[in-house]
Amino acid sequence: MLIRSPRCHEPKPSEITPESLFRRRREFLRVSAASLLLAPAALHAGRLEPGREIVEEKNSAFSTSEEQTPFDKASRYNNFYEFGTHKSDPERLSGDFQPLPWSVQVDGACMKPGTHDLEDIIQPHKLEERIYRLRCVEAWSMVIPWVGIPLGSVLSRFEPTGNAKYVAFTTVYRPEQMPGQKRSVINWPYVEGLRMDEAMHPLTLLTVGMYGRVLPNQNGAPLRVVVPWKYGFKSIKSIVRIQFTERRPPTSWNLKAPREYGFYSNVNPDVDHPRWSQRKERRIGDFFKRETLQFNGYAEQVAQLYTGMDLREQF
Ligand code: MTE
Repeated sequence: MLIRSPRCHEPKPSEITPESLFRRRREFLRVSAASLLLAPAALHAGRLEPGREIVEEKNSAFSTSEEQTPFDKASRYNNFYEFGTHKSDPERLSGDFQPLPWSVQVDGACMKPGTHDLEDIIQPHKLEERIYRLRCVEAWSMVIPWVGIPLGSVLSRFEPTGNAKYVAFTTVYRPEQMPGQKRSVINWPYVEGLRMDEAMHPLTLLTVGMYGRVLPNQNGAPLRVVVPWKYGFKSIKSIVRIQFTERRPPTSWNLKAPREYGFYSNVNPDVDHPRWSQRKERRIGDFFKRETLQFNGYAEQVAQLYTGMDLREQF
């Protein structure tokens, strides 16, 4: 094989860069290349980098003063079937999940559909801490300081039309990062929905953090909903799509077991789950059970949303 050697070129003295300048130029190029590489990531990550402190305001008007569940429990006893069905699976198996960069598609019955970076969605709002009770349908509960913004103020920016009667949410589908999605426990992706007035209610929180920091993967990073008066499964995690719909959207647990899980799923001690009572709950960490409260204790704020409805029928 013939290998051509480049013609040797004898540099003129004027072409020779002094070593100090050469080094500085090299350093400059190295730093510029690095910042070019980092720029998009930094833009995406912004204040939502994993582990970052993010509380900008504490909203005591919406917070319970009950004792908070320790972070260790709230981040190690989870339901996130995308990572497995055991409570310890999400913490153990979510290490490969990449929550950033993240974008959310917003579409359906609205004037301003589009796909937006997480930062763009959060940007104009103050991140509030709100301490809410979370009541799981499995009859346990926790008290968690969430960090987020009212979902309603985000939804308004997309200008929903008169046809928008419901809001549908979809979780990301990434079986290569979410090992639970390799098994068909439920039909992936996980989907949930709220009636428009429930989604717009000031208690409904679009959540990016807990305990003062960006959400851990196992709790729904980087973006989830928290609806404190409903059973925990309505609080869908790792959301990639928000769609305004005219018809009631399908929801994962209702599709799987319609007799056991309704669309509304308001916490209701008077309506038993077909396989167990909902009268009492165990606060994680407590020994004794406590009474479950109507609407998980948020009746004063939300009961009027359901006036005239038979909550036994529409469970
Ligand atoms: N969202 C998705 N995508 N997948 C899930 O399996 N589990 C739900 C809800 N959101 C779930 C989900 C259930 S049953 C509960 S109780 C809460 O998340 C638990 O939230 P936490 O793990 O942050 O306490």
